[in-house]
Amino acid sequence: AANDEFVRDIPKVELHVHIEGTLTPELRWKLAQRNGLKVKFGKSPEIHSMEELRYAMNSAEPKTEDEEREFFFESYYGAFDTLKTKQDYFDLAMNYFEHVATMNVRYCEVFFDPQGHTSRGIAWDVMMGGFQEAQTKAKSELNVRSSWIMCLLRDLPTEDAMDHYKAALPYRNMITGIGLDSNEYHRPPLLFQEVFSLARRDGFRITMHCDVGQDNTHEHIRQVASAIGGNGADRIDHGLNAADKPELVDLILKRDIGMTICPWAYMRYQTYAELGPKMRLLFDAGIRITVNSDDPAFMDDAWILHNLLLTKHFGFTDKEIAMLSRNAVTVSWATQPTKEGIL
Ligand code: ADE
Ligand code: ZN
Repeated sequence: AANDEFVRDIPKVELHVHIEGTLTPELRWKLAQRNGLKVKFGKSPEIHSMEELRYAMNSAEPKTEDEEREFFFESYYGAFDTLKTKQDYFDLAMNYFEHVATMNVRYCEVFFDPQGHTSRGIAWDVMMGGFQEAQTKAKSELNVRSSWIMCLLRDLPTEDAMDHYKAALPYRNMITGIGLDSNEYHRPPLLFQEVFSLARRDGFRITMHCDVGQDNTHEHIRQVASAIGGNGADRIDHGLNAADKPELVDLILKRDIGMTICPWAYMRYQTYAELGPKMRLLFDAGIRITVNSDDPAFMDDAWILHNLLLTKHFGFTDKEIAMLSRNAVTVSWATQPTKEGIL
């Protein structure tokens, strides 16, 4: 619609997107062909075409929240197998940068899950080298600047998180922050206090996922907002359920913690009618919420632009959407401009 032009054209900052979650069926198919790999999905032993892959990714109909979650993680981690070479990592990142450049994304802080790669025998230099080349090219050719947030997988042992944290230190000039993602079931934030305290001491910013369709969601948000890294994280990823509890809203406001909201992703777990009012409540309370895509290739091809447009259906005005975009600038961890330019 003509009046979507404002949202389409405003400069954007994206703070919550998993680079592996941007692996589209097209790119996955291309990488599989190039590497001589079979493509599998769900119960089918082999997928024979890109169209079949796209259909499989979009046609499953999980019923319960648990089935939703299981289906998502199986599809998401299943796709990692196609990433082998430095060129593959470059293509993955470049595909994201090129796609969001068309939506006027000018800066992004992108998650990656190293444990899902090292566990398959991928060397750090292969992964980080590909990411770095794409980042450099995106800056010079697309005017899209970026930095990386290394996410630790909370469903794996805490020792594994610590090992990966230490192994990432040689790449710290590429990494602004440390995050926590993957399956949250029975994996509270404070299990990872040691590695996040170390990250804070080493000068990294910290953030953690508190997803929407989760048990103990309010306790997880409380831990992230008040205790992780000493006195709480710098950001919360998702955390929408804070809207249920006035004391959590107060806590987040008092510490002025930014939140990365990915509305499209929550439609798997909550109705449209529940989501809009929760976002509204946080926004009206004065919390700096931002709008992001999470895993666009696995969520109906909904990128940051579509997530912003969704808030319009929740009743956010163009002026408020400009505020959501401005929030992403102030909540970001971009360095201040210098004579040499930023980043
Ligand atoms: N890793 C990638 N996408 C995720 C999500 N939506 N929730 C938790 N971990 C993730
Ligand atoms: Zn996420």
